[in-house]
Formats: sequence, structure tokens, C-alpha cells
Amino acid sequence: MTDNKMVTTKALVETATAARAAAYAPYSKFAVGAALLTRSGRIFSGCNIENISLGLTICAERSAVAAAIAAGDKDFVTIAVLTDSKQPALPCGACRQVLAEFNPTMKIIAATTSGESAEFGLADLLPKPSQGILESDV
Ligand code: THU
Repeated sequence: MTDNKMVTTKALVETATAARAAAYAPYSKFAVGAALLTRSGRIFSGCNIENISLGLTICAERSAVAAAIAAGDKDFVTIAVLTDSKQPALPCGACRQVLAEFNPTMKIIAATTSGESAEFGLADLLPKPSQGILESDV
């Protein structure tokens, strides 16, 4: 890992950790934080926002996407997800599809509160995110 990459990963995990503290997860008690890096170098954070309907819950990743898009920044590079789980947790299928809308080859860092972390390419987690849909061939 290069020094720069380590700095970036550390900054993203720190931002995701702070965001996780704001999670609204009274039903599952599973707080999640996310930090989304864009090409401009900005980092947008998100946390999960649960709802009594359960189905209307918003994941941390999609809440970070909403913050970035609302700020006019769509050029996603990396997202870090922070959970208090034994294994690093990967974004759910819905979040993978939403991330792929903006960059199907972006990087995903999954980290835990105990310091485990693993990196993935979105292209491996969700290949062909839009083939055939609205005649797209991406
Ligand atoms: N959750 C996320 O926010 N991101 C993930 O990657 C996994 C799941 C949230 C949704 C729900 O509030 C709780 O975690 C349990 O699924």
C-alpha cells in the first residue's frame, strides 16, 4: 500500500466512523457509517436511517450518495463502509446498483470497528449493472 493510499483509507474509515455515530438504527441496532470519496477529493458521509416500516430504511451507502449528489458531486472514486461486525460488511445489492449508476468500477473498502478491512471492486460485486436496461450496454 502506498503512503497516499493509506492516508486516504484512514481518512475514509475515520469519516465513516464519525458518521456511524449518527446512525438511526433503533430496530436492528446495527449502526453503519459510510464515507464516499469523489474525484475532487471531497468526502461525503452517510449513516443508515431506519424506519418503523423497515422497508423504508435507507442504508449508510445510499445516504452518502444522496449527500454527494445534493452537493453536485457525482464522480465517485471509493466508498468506505464501517460496521461493528466480525467480518467486514459489503454493501447490499440495492446499494451496489445505486453506486454503479455513478461509477460501476469504483472501489469499496469494508472495515470493522475492530480494525479489520478489505477492499473490493464494484465491478466484481455487481458485474453488468445495466446490461439491457433502457438499451444500455454498460
Ligand atoms: N445496512 C447498511 O446501512 N449498509 C450495509 O451495507 C448493510 C446494511 C443497514 C440497513 C439496516 O439499517 C441495518 O444495516 C441492518 O440491515
